[in-house]
Order: sequence, then C-alpha cells, then structure tokens
Amino acid sequence: MLDGLRRLEYRGYDSAGLAVFQPEQGLEVIKTKGRVDALARQVEGRGGLAGDIGLGHTRWATHGAPSQQNSHPHVSENGRIAVVHNGIIENYAEIRGFLQSTGVRFASETDSEVVAQLLEYYYNGSILEAVTKVLHRIQGAYALGILCADCPDRLIAARKDSPLVLGFGQGCRLLASDVTALIRYTRDVCYLDDGEIAELTADHVWVYDAYLRPVEKERRRVDWDISAAEKGGYEHFMLKEIMEQPKAVRDTLSPRIQDGRVVLDEVSFPKNFLAEMDRIAVIACGSSYHVGMAAKYILEKLLRKPVEVALASEFRYCDPIVTPRTLALVISQSGETIDTLAAMREAKRLGAKVLSIVNVVGSTIARESHQVLYTWAGPEIAVATTKAYSTQLAMIYLIGLCFGEVLGTLPPGEYAGLLAALQRLPDQLEEVLSCRERIQYLASVCFNHPSVFFIGRHLDYAVGLEGSLKLKEISYLHSEAYAAGELKHGTISLIEPGTLVVALATCRPLFEKTMSNVVEVKSRGADVLGLTTAPLEAAMGQTATYTLTVPETHPLLLPSLDVVPMQLFAYYVALMHGCDIDKPRNLAKSVTVE
Ligand code: M6R
Repeated sequence: MLDGLRRLEYRGYDSAGLAVFQPEQGLEVIKTKGRVDALARQVEGRGGLAGDIGLGHTRWATHGAPSQQNSHPHVSENGRIAVVHNGIIENYAEIRGFLQSTGVRFASETDSEVVAQLLEYYYNGSILEAVTKVLHRIQGAYALGILCADCPDRLIAARKDSPLVLGFGQGCRLLASDVTALIRYTRDVCYLDDGEIAELTADHVWVYDAYLRPVEKERRRVDWDISAAEKGGYEHFMLKEIMEQPKAVRDTLSPRIQDGRVVLDEVSFPKNFLAEMDRIAVIACGSSYHVGMAAKYILEKLLRKPVEVALASEFRYCDPIVTPRTLALVISQSGETIDTLAAMREAKRLGAKVLSIVNVVGSTIARESHQVLYTWAGPEIAVATTKAYSTQLAMIYLIGLCFGEVLGTLPPGEYAGLLAALQRLPDQLEEVLSCRERIQYLASVCFNHPSVFFIGRHLDYAVGLEGSLKLKEISYLHSEAYAAGELKHGTISLIEPGTLVVALATCRPLFEKTMSNVVEVKSRGADVLGLTTAPLEAAMGQTATYTLTVPETHPLLLPSLDVVPMQLFAYYVALMHGCDIDKPRNLAKSVTVE
C-alpha cells in the first residue's frame, strides 16, 4: 500500500494514512499529516503492520485542515469499519447533525467521516447492504474504499463522479483511484462506472449496480511501461516530461498521418454533421483550456466555423447555447477533471456531439464521450502539464486538417504545406530543447523578479497564458498573462522598474504591433525577455533586455515550439527558488472535486 501511495504522490496531497486488518488486534490505523515517507516511518516505528488486507489513502484537504485527525482512513465510532474517500459529500452537515443527535461522536472535521459513521448506523450484519443504504443517503462525488472487521476477507468499493479502478493481480485483487498505483502488480484492470459497487476478495471481484444486481464488466489491458512512470535519471518528472515532448508529439501524429493525409479513424460523424455544424464549443480547465484558446485561432482559421472556448467550471452554470448541431470539443489530460466531466455531460444533455481529446485511456471522459481521440503522451506524473499540453495541441492540428479537408475550407496548397510542417514538428522540438542551457541562464538572471507579466497577440497570447500558469504553478511567483494590446487599458499601471515582462512576438504579421507594446513597458522600466523566431531576433534585440528564439515554421504551428521555452523557463526559475517542482503546494494532478 505504501508503494501504491508513493506512486500516487504526484497527484498532490497533504496527509496520508493506512488501515490494516490484523487478526489479533482488529483494524489497525496509522495516519499522519505530511508525506508518505512520514507515514512509512511511523509504520516502521511500530515494527511494521502485518495483514492481508487494508486501505491506504493520501488526502488533499477540502473540509478541515490538513491534520492527523482529518486524514483518512476514517473509522466508525465502534472501530470496526474503516473508510477512505475521494470527492466531497455535499450533504455531510445534515448527516453529521443527524448522527450527532443519535449520540455519535465525530473524530474529525471532514465530510468523509460521515460515511464511516453512517455505515455503522445502518450496519446490520451485511456490509454490502449497509453500503447501498449509505449511497442512497449521501449526495456529492465519491470514490470509496471500505473495510469492515466483521468480513476481513473483502473490500467494498463504490464510485460516483470520482475515478476508481480495480486490478486483477496474481493471487490478489486491488483497488485504486489511478492505474499508476497498480501497474507494478497487474496490467489487467477494470474501471468502475458511476453508481457501481464492487466487492473484492483476494481472488474474486463482483460488481453490482446500486440495487446489488450483478453487472458484467469489461477488463482492459494497460499497455504502458512502468518505466514511463519513473524519473529515468532526471532530477524531476517535469524535466523528463519536457524532454519527452518530441517523442510524445511524434507518437500522437504518426499513426494518424497516412500517405500524405490525416486519417482520424476514431472519429465518424453522421453525414453532413460537419457541414451543418453551427459551432465548436471547446470545454476544458487549466492548461487544457489554454490549448482551447490556441484552438480557437487555429480551427477558426482552418474551418471557418465559430469556435467558443469555455472554462468548464463556468460552462456548466451559464445556460450555454448548445444545439444538436454543436460539436463539444472536450480537452482533458486526465479524463477525470470533475468540472470538465460535468460540463461535458451538460453539453451532451443539450444535444451536442461530444468529441474528446484525452490522454488517459479508459478514463471517465473518454468513456462517456461520443468519440475520443487519445493523445499518446504516456503517463504524465508532474503536476504541471507539459507533454500532455503539446500532444493536445498536436491533436488540434490533426482535427483542423482532417475537418478542413471534409469542409473544403483550406486554401489550395495549405493542406500539404501545413501537413509537411506538422511532420517536421518533432525534430524542431528537439532543436528547441537543445537550447535549454540558454533558457537556464536566462532563468538565473531573471528568477528574482517578484512579478512577471506575459504579453502577446493572437496565438502568442494563448501561449502566454500557458507560460504564466506554468511559472506561477511551480515557482509561486506572481504572474499574469495579457493580450499585448490590452495592457494599456489598465494593467500597464503595474509596470515599474524591476517588473519582468515576457514578450511573445513570434506571430510575424503582428510583430511590429507587439513591439510597440514592448517599447511601452520598457520605457516604464520593465526588463523584457522577448521570444521570437530566429529571423526576427535582431529586431527584438533592439528593445528587449534578453532574447530567446524558436525556429521558423508554419505560423499556426508556432505555439507548439513557443511553449517549450516557457516550460523550461518556469522549470529553471522554480529550481532556483528550491520549490517542490513535481508536487507544487496546494495543487493536485487531477482535480476531481468541484
Ligand atoms: O486533466 P485535465 O487536463 O482535465 O486537467 C486540467 C487542469 O487541472 C490542468 O491542466 C492544470 O491546470 C495543470 N496543473 C496545469 O499544469
């Protein structure tokens, strides 16, 4: 269990715990605030924990501060039922009040503890029946693991809106919120769907619906290599994943380019759907949303159809205009982000066709979309996304070319030119990565700036959003991204001597316009780090304090190259600040709570 928890450390957490059934002592629970290493030391301090069955958990605090009491597993008052929970029980206050009125005393401030206490309340000799009663009573999102001392040969699991995967190992059955925890023990897995309950013994798994009717599940084989989830000699997963981008992009593109054409075998729409499509609604969060921002410029140019980009957390509550002629393009690395999943369900309910771009095979968003295009980035462990972003962007180009051909919206010669440039992209990414020492040097001269502004126009603006997010996520520096032309409408008041402005000016037709904005900030004392293409370096150098370049490519492909120096810059700045790069504070890899 400790090994499994270590493999999930990348997801972000603040406390950890274990419950093991020991034949003599019953349920033994060890919990601690802090890292899995601290938990392991406590286990060692007690001379180990012997047992054949148990539950482990890492908690990312929502209700109640990170503390030993608030960490999982939570145990019912009689000490006989242990529970781990991901998600949020929305009606916990009402249930807690009810249980307290019956005399139950709570040990934590969490929403999750109500599950353990409610199980004890309903338990009448059958833990499965108690679970179904609890599931009918609780509202919210959950992935639950349950261990009852009265039936110590089995675990019970249940899910709604939070991922759970079951593993079929040699003489053992396992359960986890992410396949990464299981891969060392088995490649045979099955994903629980919403509303399902599973019962696991060492050699059997039964899956039921909410009324305990048996459900047949399909087993899947995980085909990625365990080394993909290891650092392979790099100091951090983030750097490893940055360096893997040429391969990840190549793996995403190559199978879909055949005989000089883009072939998306995975996608088939009803006849005329694309021609009659009224809009594309891109739905995503965080960096995936930033890919959506770039997609707006790229797809509108190639398809001549309106593209609206929505933050998933806003989309679901804004009464969105969606029709059966709308294509909802859902972008998610994990395929489990709860806001994106909920927004996707809303788009589906309103009649949209859902096409998702997802990295994790078999994830909930992939399973629930009408069509899915997988990015072949391999497992991404660092919380700050890099290779997943790059492969999502590569997928946008493939969609633009494929749909553009169907719609006939690409000017003559454009298809072949863009496709040829796309095929050169992995080599050009290698070229950008080979300049990382220069970026490391620039990070060493810039890392002390307390405030950083990223500016750019058009696609450069979309990349600026991602550059800014990367920097703040892992280095904790304050940073903002603005459309360069927008700066003078208010934000320029923040520019003063010592402010660092990262100016992205790779978009040739808008170069002079962006340079005017660079001059404006420079004359107010800002230090400017300018990113442009090699032929424009000298022009940039006349004003910028420092310059960085990327090779020339098709203008629509520039974001793929531009983002790499932004990732490396953030990485090296964070390194110089001594930050916990792969596991930045307060962040989780996959955000499965609202
Ligand atoms: O798994 P998803 O792509 O749905 O995740 C969306 C965001 O949570 C994610 O991109 C987040 O912003 C990353 N930490 C960015 O590096």
